[in-house]
Amino acid sequence: MSDEELWNRVDSLLESALLSRDPDLDPALAASEQAGLPAIQVSPTQGKLLHLLVRVQAARRVLELGTLGGYSAIWMASALPEGGSLVSLEAEPRHAEVARANLQRAGLDAKVEVRVGPALESLPQLLSERAGPFDLIFIDADKTGYPDYLRWAHRLARPGSLILADNVVRAGAITDPREGDAAATGVRRFLEDVGATPGLSATAVQTVGSKGYDGFCLALVTAMPGPG
Ligand code: SAH
Ligand code: DHB
Ligand code: MG
Repeated sequence: MSDEELWNRVDSLLESALLSRDPDLDPALAASEQAGLPAIQVSPTQGKLLHLLVRVQAARRVLELGTLGGYSAIWMASALPEGGSLVSLEAEPRHAEVARANLQRAGLDAKVEVRVGPALESLPQLLSERAGPFDLIFIDADKTGYPDYLRWAHRLARPGSLILADNVVRAGAITDPREGDAAATGVRRFLEDVGATPGLSATAVQTVGSKGYDGFCLALVTAMPGPG
């Protein structure tokens, strides 16, 4: 058995032992596949981790960068209390359209706003609208943008907010970002920036599973960024 087969078997076991079948999630995946979206959403166990972190954090305001078909958004929004809300940023209008339909089917459309446009345009808008502070921010859009997204996430947070980032290991490519691997370079720079930013206390954990070999980063905001 290959490593990948074993990781898949273990993920199946963890899913059946720990995760109850959510009637909203399978249709969302099916509709995303039907629409031809890439199957790069978080795995079920990772989605449940996001769900639990929203609850542990008692988050009422959540921000996501990178909606795709709304799979991770469903996991997080379903953890929100009455009156809680999630804003999810998506550059591709077609992805946003599929996500909105999936969120509506899940009965979560009143809690979730999908904003279409490059995150680097929506993030300053959110700041000028005083849409923050967000209690939890999940960074999962284009990997080249991660260093910029970190700075915006910090500004849109409050002391006590959690900043999470997906795909920070990239099968180990971050250890040797090849010339031209802009994604691995971006993620590595992101990790270095996280560690060098006063006001963030962070770790990252390597993961294997049905999404292959990757990892996530978790940063607690302990202080806001200085001016400028
Ligand atoms: N969070 C989703 C997966 C997101 S995949 C889940 O786990 O279910 C990454 C998404 O980011 C894609 O839909 C892609 O279109 C979007 N994206 C890429 N570049 C972006 C940008 N500059 N701004 C906003 N979204 C972007
Ligand atoms: C890619 C993006 C993701 O968010 C992910 O979880 C896996 C892969 C990608 O762009 O290749
Ligand atoms: Mg991801």
